[in-house]
Amino acid sequence: MLAWTCTNCTEPMTLVQKVNSATRRVPAWLLYILLPVPGLWLFWQAVQNQLGPDPLDVLENGLGEYALQLLIAGLLVTPVRNLTKINLIKYRRAIGLMAFAYVVAHFTVYLLLDQQLYWDAIWKDITKRPYIIFGMSAFLVLVPLAMTSNNLSIRKLGPLVWRRIHWGVYYASVAGATHYVLMKKTWEFEPLMYLAIFAVLIGYRFIRFRRRMIA
Ligand code: HEM
Repeated sequence: MLAWTCTNCTEPMTLVQKVNSATRRVPAWLLYILLPVPGLWLFWQAVQNQLGPDPLDVLENGLGEYALQLLIAGLLVTPVRNLTKINLIKYRRAIGLMAFAYVVAHFTVYLLLDQQLYWDAIWKDITKRPYIIFGMSAFLVLVPLAMTSNNLSIRKLGPLVWRRIHWGVYYASVAGATHYVLMKKTWEFEPLMYLAIFAVLIGYRFIRFRRRMIA
């Protein structure tokens, strides 16, 4: 077995130290290459006609699910650091931006392939169907978050205003999961599970915030 030691001491490294040391060597830009792969693979399969009898459905739904999964991954970074001391914070921006990219791809598939830019039907959907209203509002809230996910915006807005804007991710996550719950005609396990995961992740932050206020 490999003996792991930290650079300035002879003590063996703990698992947390090993992970943190590994993350120092893995650059965040790698995620901009790796995270689009499942989405591109879906597109490739759609082009190759390998997505079954309803490829549009599989493509559109798949992109939506990846978006939700990346939103969860982004929200997990803070609790993982607080509870385990594993620090993945340098990857959070890439995860968030890739979640947004999946939402944009999902929305684009809806506009171009599902509705074929038939604006009357799109407008009717966006104003009348509750699940589309939730999806659309989640998307609109994510736009300023994605646009300000850079160092210049943090400097210009100041960390306090920037953080407030980025609280929008809590709404977008819950609205995105609600969009999924509502599109099903019955209560299905998977969409409810996404909603429950977001409730736990946001609830955790709320409890920590209240504890800090009281202390
Ligand atoms: C944060 C934003 C969004 C998220 C996280 C999201 C996520 C999802 C998920 C998880 C599904 C269902 C996957 C499945 O059944 O396996 C879905 C389906 C769908 N979404 Fe979204 N969505 C978002 C925004 C939007 C927007 C803006 C629109 C269009 C205005 C939209 C239109 C649709 C449609 C039409 C379906 C159903 C596709 C079908 O089964 O035919 N979504 N979305």
